[in-house]
Amino acid sequence: MRTLYQKGGPAVDLYDVRIRGGPGSPVEGDVDFFLRHARRTGGPVLELGVGTGRVAVPLARAGFEVVGLDLSPHMLAAARRKAVPGLTLVRGNMARFDLGRKFRLILIPFRAFQHLKTPREQRSCLECVRRHLAPCGRFIVDLFDPRLEFCLPERHRARMTRGRVRHPETGNSIRIHVEDRRNDPHTQTFSERWIHEERDAAGRVVRRWKDDLSLRWTYRFEMEYLLRLSGLEPIACYGDFRGSRPRYGAEQIWVCEA
Ligand SMILES: C[S@@+](CC[C@H](N)C(=O)[O-])C[C@H]1O[C@@H](n2cnc3c(N)ncnc32)[C@H](O)[C@@H]1O
Repeated sequence: MRTLYQKGGPAVDLYDVRIRGGPGSPVEGDVDFFLRHARRTGGPVLELGVGTGRVAVPLARAGFEVVGLDLSPHMLAAARRKAVPGLTLVRGNMARFDLGRKFRLILIPFRAFQHLKTPREQRSCLECVRRHLAPCGRFIVDLFDPRLEFCLPERHRARMTRGRVRHPETGNSIRIHVEDRRNDPHTQTFSERWIHEERDAAGRVVRRWKDDLSLRWTYRFEMEYLLRLSGLEPIACYGDFRGSRPRYGAEQIWVCEA
């Protein structure tokens, strides 16, 4: 099944207007946090799951050499349109890649790691990270800390709104909601059916898309063991990009050394 970023369409076209990192967003402050680390380690920087370049573009604009890897040709095309010197984009799978060089900083921002659906794939990704990390380099990965009430086995029929955005080209309003969510606590994965509904100025529905998103949740101590098993040494874990202590239901932001 091709999930939302692999398929293209509104999930890609609206990504930059939807994920702005404003107050209360799970990525609030992440770009500044990554910039601070890049200043400490120096470049080159590798971003896995680079998407539209939300993080990679400001890093490259700050003067760092950045390589961004992503599975989705649509997300990469959106990043490529920004045409930023110093940013190289590569199509590849973060679960198995060999770029033949090392990096001082490797990032997996905004839960992209959770697109890897099995511990085997996750482990393989972290081992690739370790092989690409320069001596004294750093690896930072951000995932969500699972809220258990959202992980229960029953099928969730309740509609969950994901907000409203304005289409950057048509100017129409687009309502995003989740129509169906199924959790599988056995594999620690969930699948969601996303609906994007576009309405014109008169309020008529002019387009409606369905997309699927599936992610794996990982518990904090599981992640710590996974990192250590892969030869990565966690030196800090934060609950947000202000550097707060880890807390239940917040983010898990791991900073590691090789
Ligand atoms: C939520 S977006 C994050 C994009 C960007 N890093 C950011 O912070 O805005 C997740 C990205 O991970 C990519 N992705 C998912 N699975 C991947 C894989 N196995 N290898 C590489 N990229 C992957 C998706 O195509 C998507 O662009």
